[in-house]
Amino acid sequence: MTSTSGAHSARVALVTCADLPELDEEDAPLVGLLEDRGLAVGVEVWDDPAADWSAYDLVVVRSAWDYSLRRREFLDWARSLPTLRNPANVVAWNSDKHYLADLAKDGQSVVETLWLEPERGYSKRDLHNRFPAREDFVLKPAVSAGSLDTGRYTATNADSRRLAIMHAHRLLEAGRSVMVQRYMPEVDAFGETALVFLHGEFSHAVHKGPMLVGADEPTDGLYKPEVMSPFAASELEIDTAKEILAFARERIPGRSAGSRPLLYARVDLVRREGQRPVLMELELVEPSLFPSLADGALDRIADAIVREIELGPDPRNDASA
Ligand SMILES: Nc1ncnc2c1ncn2[C@@H]1O[C@H](COP(=O)(O)OP(=O)(O)O)[C@@H](O)[C@H]1O
Ligand SMILES: [Mg+2]
Repeated sequence: MTSTSGAHSARVALVTCADLPELDEEDAPLVGLLEDRGLAVGVEVWDDPAADWSAYDLVVVRSAWDYSLRRREFLDWARSLPTLRNPANVVAWNSDKHYLADLAKDGQSVVETLWLEPERGYSKRDLHNRFPAREDFVLKPAVSAGSLDTGRYTATNADSRRLAIMHAHRLLEAGRSVMVQRYMPEVDAFGETALVFLHGEFSHAVHKGPMLVGADEPTDGLYKPEVMSPFAASELEIDTAKEILAFARERIPGRSAGSRPLLYARVDLVRREGQRPVLMELELVEPSLFPSLADGALDRIADAIVREIELGPDPRNDASA
């Protein structure tokens, strides 16, 4: 920790998880950049009982990537911190991919999804009947990150179908909602575009290669490895992402059209031939922002954090909603 001499310098916590106590390597240089801007910076693990959150003027969620099996605990922690960004109401809404259904209701293009809910008690035959009959499909939990517990299956292959049934069954038995989606071939053809926004301003985009080759396999890691590269997003992608963020603003409990754009947001889009891009995922909780892949991105993130401290809590956002 450093502090500027004289007057109280604002203190910011960058939040990570126990497996990455020094932050993710993309975020680590942020500490120095924030200190250069006169802030005192602490790196804290979200579930560390020794962390003194009251010491901070601002608490910024970064690599807290281990909450998907402990969402309740994570939300309790988020709700206890009025200084948290993004704020707790945003974290609550966005940490469960059912938000995609909210956006789809508003007419936004999202990847078409069939939802399997654990309380429905599906038999293996029920699951079989709900999977697509053709092409490849994806199973993933509604609460997840880092492509964990996510697998790709081939509808017409009996072995693959059997693995899919086991996968869905395992998640449902653990009380987790399961999403069934057609595998979008565009992801193999073009990959995804991840667009990063800071306070509503487009900062940069990166390209993400395809992730899924087959059935879900257990991993000890926090995420499956991604292949990211610098990318110049099109006007259409930037406009689509902005529109999705505007809709999300109206949808998230506690927010309104008058609320301030969020400190950070990442919009993951899949390009389609001759149509608007489709939303794969909107990341408002703990997105990787990939600053090393775009000139000046890390400085823009540091500036946005300074600005967030200067602005203070948004009176038009009810974090307790
Ligand atoms: N319907 C789909 N079609 C093609 N690829 C998919 C599909 N759903 C997920 N994927 C792949 O799996 C990755 C992780 O899925 P995503 O929905 O982004 O969840 P998360 O990143 O939270 O684990 C995506 O980046 C993409 O590569
Ligand atoms: Mg994703």
